[in-house]
Amino acid sequence: MSPTTEINVLGIETSCDETSVAVLSGDKVKVNLISSQDFHKYYGGVVPELSSRAHLQMIKPLVDSALKKTNLGLKDINLIAATAGPGLIGALLVGLTFGKGISFSLSKPFIAVNHIEGHIFSGFLSDKKPQFPYLVLVVSGGHTLLLYVKSFTEIYKLGSTVDDAAGEAFDKVSKMLGLSYPGGKMIEEKAKSGDENSISFPIAELKQEYDFSFSGLKTAVLRYIQKNYTDIKIPENDVCNIAASFQKAAVTALVNKLNYAVQNFKVKSISLVGGVAANTLLRNEILSVADKCKITAVIPAFEYCGDNGAMIALRGLQLYVEGITSDLNAKPYPAIPPDHFLTF
Ligand code: KG4
Ligand code: ZN
Repeated sequence: MSPTTEINVLGIETSCDETSVAVLSGDKVKVNLISSQDFHKYYGGVVPELSSRAHLQMIKPLVDSALKKTNLGLKDINLIAATAGPGLIGALLVGLTFGKGISFSLSKPFIAVNHIEGHIFSGFLSDKKPQFPYLVLVVSGGHTLLLYVKSFTEIYKLGSTVDDAAGEAFDKVSKMLGLSYPGGKMIEEKAKSGDENSISFPIAELKQEYDFSFSGLKTAVLRYIQKNYTDIKIPENDVCNIAASFQKAAVTALVNKLNYAVQNFKVKSISLVGGVAANTLLRNEILSVADKCKITAVIPAFEYCGDNGAMIALRGLQLYVEGITSDLNAKPYPAIPPDHFLTF
C-alpha cells in the first residue's frame, strides 16, 4: 500500500461557474460534488459578480455535505487544496480563502493549485493512468494547449491557441445559432441530427506547427449565417447541419495537431482533458489516433472533464508528495503566469 492512500485530501474549485468540493483518500475519489451556476445562461455568459456570490452561498454547504457523505470530520482531513488561478478573481478568492481558513484552523498543510495543472493531470483520476512521458491536449473554455508531460513537475508547452480557445469557439457558435450557454453541449446535441459534410468550414494552417486558431472558423460560421439567413430564423435542420459541420472542423483541427505531435514524440500515452473533452466525436477521434499508433489514450470520465474539485485535490496531493506546499499568503491570479510551463 502506498503511503499516500492514508492521506485524506479536501479539494476546492471555484475558478469560474462551478463550485466543486471533493474528498480523496490518496488518489481515490470518495466524493466529488459539483454545483453548476446554471443562471448564467440568462445573460449569455458568466457574470463575474454573480458567480462570486453563488460560490459564497454554496461553498460551506458543499464542504459540510462532502464530509457527511464520506463519514469524515474536518479533523480527519490531512491536506487542503484549492484553486488559486487562472480564473475569475472574485470567484477564486472565495474557494482559496475558504481553503486557507480551514488549513489555518486545523494546522494542516495547504496547496494553492493551478487550475490548468488540475486539468492536465486529471487523467490520473481514471483507472488506466497515463504513462510518462505523455502528450496532453487541454481543451477548455479558456485554454487550448498541447503539452509534453515528462513527470508531475516537468511540463513543456508545445503549442497553444493564438486566439480563441476551443470551448470559447463552441460557446460563440452556439450563441450565433440562438442556442443557450454553455454552448459545447448544445452544439453536440444539435450536431447529432445534422450532416457534418453539408458545409465545408476552414481549418487554420499556422506557421507554428503545434499552435491552434479558432477565430477564422468562428468568423466563417458567422459569415455563412449572415449570408444565408439575413432576415429569417435559421430553420432547425440548418442549425443541426451548421452545428455538425462546425463541430467536425473544430475536432479535426484539434486532432490533426495531436496526431502530428504523436508522430514526432516518442510517447506511450496521450491524454485529452478539460471541458471540451466531454465531446463524444473528439473522444472517439483521440481513441482512434491512439489505436492506430498503438499507444494508450487516457480521457477522464465525464464528471472529471469539466471543472471539478477532485482534480484539484489530486493535483494538491501530487505536489505534496513532491514536497511542495503553499503558504497562507498564496494569492489568486486571473491568468497563467507567462513563464509557467517552462519554469517547471
Ligand atoms: O474546463 P471547463 O469546464 O471550464 C474551463 O476551465 O474553461 O470547460 C468549459 C468549456 C465550455 O466552453 C463548454 O462549452 C465546453 O467546455 N464543453 C463542451 C462540451 N461540454 C462542455 N464542448 C464541446 N462538446 C461538449 N460536449
Ligand atoms: Zn477548467
